[in-house]
Amino acid sequence: MSTTIASARRLHPWPVRVMHWTNAVAMIIMIGSGWGIYNDSVIFHFLHFPQWLRIGSWAAESLLWHFAAMWLLAINGLAYLTYGTLTGRLRERMLPIRLSELVHTVRDTLRFKIAHDDLTVYNAVQKLLYIVVILAGISQVISGLAIWKPIQFSWLISLFGEFQGGRLVHFLGMAVIVGFLAVHVALSLLVPSTLWAMLTGGPRLDKPRSRAV
Ligand code: HEM
Repeated sequence: MSTTIASARRLHPWPVRVMHWTNAVAMIIMIGSGWGIYNDSVIFHFLHFPQWLRIGSWAAESLLWHFAAMWLLAINGLAYLTYGTLTGRLRERMLPIRLSELVHTVRDTLRFKIAHDDLTVYNAVQKLLYIVVILAGISQVISGLAIWKPIQFSWLISLFGEFQGGRLVHFLGMAVIVGFLAVHVALSLLVPSTLWAMLTGGPRLDKPRSRAV
């Protein structure tokens, strides 16, 4: 029975695809509306986001979008982490990361050798980037909660020193996610088979996983 289930396992089972694309939509809304809120009280005086990049025509409207999408982002993110932990997917796909493999992949990438023949294995750079972006997402939720309710979550604010510290961490987390997205989307367009797999499920995996679902 377990063999039958395991052999039918796809590279990206449907829950992963649903959660991935839900996260993409929620992230884009969070980023665009976040830029609208930021403009109302900038952290860096040289940096303002133009209207065409913002979601919401003024700060209060951007806030409404931000508060609406934050629940989608947080609940979906929690579901992904729970699923990934219970099924063993996170460990299987993103660990271990070997330093030698990391150096090798960076060297190949700099030489524009970005072949991704075996879709079922993430290379060391991919693994690292996914772990970094997942941690950045968690940090966004924590710093977001802290600056949303600084009195109720004063113990969270104290993690960042003060309110402005929380804002800065929230801004830097956004910058990490936007930087990740630029590379991530460019790579998925350069290797379209990965995009197709994230839409349709990709190849079936024959290697059983002990806790596969
Ligand atoms: C909207 C544009 C996006 C596109 C076109 C896209 C595309 C893809 C593709 C093609 C893969 C599979 C990679 C492979 O098999 O080699 C993937 C995986 C992944 N993406 Fe995205 N993605 C997008 C947005 C995002 C966002 C916003 C995040 C997080 C901030 C994200 C995080 C991830 C993670 C963590 C994985 C690995 C998932 C797993 O294997 O469990 N993606 N994405």
